[in-house]
Amino acid sequence: MINKKMIVCQELECADSQGDGYPREIVSMKIAILGAGNIGRALGSQWSRAGHAVVFGVRDPGSAKTAESLKRSGVNSADTVAKAIATSEIVVWAVPGAAVESLVMAHATALSNRIMIDATNRIGASDMSAVGVLTAFASGARIYRAFNTLGWENFVDPVISGIQADLFYCGQEDVSVRGLVEDLIRGIGLRPVYLGGLDQVPVLDGLTRLWFSLALGQKRGRHLAFKLLAA
Ligand SMILES: NC(=O)c1ccc[n+]([C@@H]2O[C@H](COP(=O)([O-])OP(=O)(O)OC[C@H]3O[C@@H](n4cnc5c(N)ncnc54)[C@H](OP(=O)(O)O)[C@@H]3O)[C@@H](O)[C@H]2O)c1
Repeated sequence: MINKKMIVCQELECADSQGDGYPREIVSMKIAILGAGNIGRALGSQWSRAGHAVVFGVRDPGSAKTAESLKRSGVNSADTVAKAIATSEIVVWAVPGAAVESLVMAHATALSNRIMIDATNRIGASDMSAVGVLTAFASGARIYRAFNTLGWENFVDPVISGIQADLFYCGQEDVSVRGLVEDLIRGIGLRPVYLGGLDQVPVLDGLTRLWFSLALGQKRGRHLAFKLLAA
């Protein structure tokens, strides 16, 4: 059983973590983002600004491409995938969906007690998510699916026409771990909406398909997100 106090906290800060103008005390988390592309940079930039310790896990930490991603995102450091996982409590998957299986197999032991968030999509596959391979190879990990339903532009700017976008997510019911995941969603400036356990992955991925239909199919543009309205 994990709770916020068990997570290694470097510091407590006051920040406007929910983007509503009210500073709150936030728990600083150690986050490894695997992949420093569009999604990795967008998430890393917001979490760094929110006070979390972010490291990119990449194939070549010393490359010019990595240096450019660090500069553009404001993330402090990049390391190998193995070292990034080793120094973090939360691992966010932001690599191409096809790359996940070999990576999780190579790092299965280190990943087995982590909180993991799958943001990957395999476009066109019947199962778009990597949840199946993560569950199969990293037993014991707490797995969530989030940040996969919207284009990265919405993580850079989560308010559209003055309205805060929602982020739908699913994963294990454990309330304390869900609290951390929701803190991360709020750290992006989005309002979290929990769909339920991992059995809800197909429902969530239906939302991704809807986003593609609207943003790209109907050419409404990529700065497009969803809002749940309920009385
Ligand atoms: N773009 C979006 O708006 C969006 C929205 C939601 C979800 N997603 C999903 O998020 C994931 C990333 O998308 P993206 O747009 O950020 O892609 P991207 O810009 O192409 O970046 C992919 C990153 O993954 C790294 N990578 C690729 N293969 C790897 C491997 N075998 N081991 C380690 N790192 C590897 C790349 O590093 P190198 O520089 O070494 O190639 C790069 O940093 C995809 O699964 C995508 O479907 C994207």
